[in-house]
Amino acid sequence: MPAIVLIGAQWGDEGKGKVTDLLGERVDYVVRYSGGNNAGHTVITPDGQKYALHLMPSGALSPSAMIVIGNGVVVDPKVLLSEIDGLAERGVDVSRLRISGDAHLIMPHHSALDRVVERYLGQARIGTTGRGIGPAYGDKVARMGIRLQDLLDPGILRKKLDLVLREKNQMLFKVYNRKALDVEAVAQEYLEYAERLRPYIAETRVMLWDALDRGEIVLLEGAQATMLDLDHGTYPFVTSSNPTAGGACVGAGIPPTAISKVIGVTKAYTTRVGSGPFPTELFDDNGAHLRKVGAEYGTTTGRERRCGWFDAVVARYATRLNGITDLVVTKLDVLTGLAKVPICVGYEIEGERFDDMPMTQTAFHHATPIYEEHDGWWEDISKVRSEADLPANARRYIERIEELCGTRVSVVGVGPGREENVIRHPLI
Ligand code: GDP
Ligand code: IMO
Ligand code: MG
Repeated sequence: MPAIVLIGAQWGDEGKGKVTDLLGERVDYVVRYSGGNNAGHTVITPDGQKYALHLMPSGALSPSAMIVIGNGVVVDPKVLLSEIDGLAERGVDVSRLRISGDAHLIMPHHSALDRVVERYLGQARIGTTGRGIGPAYGDKVARMGIRLQDLLDPGILRKKLDLVLREKNQMLFKVYNRKALDVEAVAQEYLEYAERLRPYIAETRVMLWDALDRGEIVLLEGAQATMLDLDHGTYPFVTSSNPTAGGACVGAGIPPTAISKVIGVTKAYTTRVGSGPFPTELFDDNGAHLRKVGAEYGTTTGRERRCGWFDAVVARYATRLNGITDLVVTKLDVLTGLAKVPICVGYEIEGERFDDMPMTQTAFHHATPIYEEHDGWWEDISKVRSEADLPANARRYIERIEELCGTRVSVVGVGPGREENVIRHPLI
């Protein structure tokens, strides 16, 4: 079982961090391949310690795995260093980290532009995390990006920065009325980061190929999620990378033929942070229940997450798009105590029924969910570890998700802790 991809099947925060951590002891490498510190992955280790990881792969908390930040990630060095320091202070061995020299850097002008453009958009804003993600990927595509490897050559760093700031300072100052950035001050700041990051920068592709040749297991840990994918999500209310399984090959330099399994993580209901269409969103007591019991507040920005029922159209779309072989349904425990737990099985859009995602964004904005009602359960399921011990209605709910998505549900989450799961089929 060489390479395994783990992705979010909804709009993020499905519990990818927890599932990566669950697999951490059985894999040799955990690799982040897309996004940056817009991600917030929560891991609660068996000793009850809680970690919020943004750039570091969640495998950091499994002492035996090597951890890699791939070429497809955008790296804010200040954030990464503070994460490295924070983990080291808590006794985590961070010497296992390697970062691709081809990963792009988030520079001060990226975060500044991200925030100012959002303000400028007003009501039409994306609701980004304000971490500079969009502008950093924008520069990468426009071939104006600065990469981790450029930190190792002060001359090149200054030259690239000088060129890029010529344009960005015009934008910051003349268009958005902000202070221009000083090339030398930014160069100095980044050269200091360079000294500390130097030992971690590596040719990660060859490392991963060698590991795969030795028959080792490489887990590609997705950030964000399918519906936030730049190409396949709810554009423009998406992030600026490809978090889907295809993106794992590009973002880590792994050939598609090396991937033998795709694990899709989905909540037993749905959440979304930021703007954009969300057909099953709830504005009633049920929504309040999900937010309160599920503690649905962002790990990165602390924003309230929008909550709604499980959307099987989205889950089936994610299953087919990513080639999901195993679903992990997290947070089933959060549904306990609800009399009815509806599942959205299709949409009605202007009098027409849709079983799959409609072609246009306008239609998706107008989608009204078609629900199938399921009876709820009242029993506390947080201590349940075997499927047979789940209440019959909870079992049926999972079986229905399986049927609607057309792939097996291998793990069901019943609590935030590493061991709080019902394993139906071992993932590895
Ligand atoms: P990620 O971004 O996909 O890694 O997910 P986040 O960490 O942002 O959000 C998921 C939240 O749900 C975290 O607070 C997890 O600790 C929590 N969580 C994960 N799985 C479960 C579960 O099965 N039950 C409960 N109650 N909480 C869970
Ligand atoms: P994890 O890995 C949930 C959302 C933002 C915004 C949109 C674009 O924890 O699941 P960006 O800053 O990326 O330009 O914002 O994407 N978003 C996330 N939502 N979980 C995430 O990551 C997210 N990363 C970005 O809220 O709507
Ligand atoms: Mg998250």
